[in-house]
Amino acid sequence: MDRFVKSFIVLSIIYLGIASIIGVVMLGDPSYLGLKFIHSHLMMLGWVSMMIYGVGYHILPRFSGRPLKSNRIGEIQLWTANIGLIGMVVLYTIDSSKPLLILFGLMEVLSIVLFVYNMLATLLPKQDQPQ
Ligand code: HEM
Repeated sequence: MDRFVKSFIVLSIIYLGIASIIGVVMLGDPSYLGLKFIHSHLMMLGWVSMMIYGVGYHILPRFSGRPLKSNRIGEIQLWTANIGLIGMVVLYTIDSSKPLLILFGLMEVLSIVLFVYNMLATLLPKQDQPQ
């Protein structure tokens, strides 16, 4: 398994743990419901999306019988996805300046675009026909 793929999977499990604890905290004391943004985004962009990125990068090229278009793009996506997510939840919590928050949001979007490109460029080209 490529290192960036393993990192996606390990980080997704870590996000699951953190987001679950925040969820229980919110259940226990509704005055913490302000953490809902962090909880929901760590769950959806951290746990769910990063598990899908990791498993998708590992399995989909093998299913299609072709190598991944670019491991380098996968590695860049690992960084943009994590910096974007952590930046978003931290800045949202400390009520930082909007432009900076939007910058991290855009970084998260960039990571999604990189994944979409890398996957489609792997899966869509026509397979060479056997002679
Ligand atoms: C581990 C157990 C979990 C606990 C204890 C938990 C707890 C909570 C709580 C207390 C809220 C706030 C509800 C409210 O507004 O009153 C919430 C919201 C939310 N949770 Fe969880 N949650 C858990 C797992 C998950 C999972 C697995 C996901 C998705 C993969 C998830 C996604 C969300 C989302 C998207 C919201 C925002 C919902 C909204 O604002 O309408 N949660 N959760």
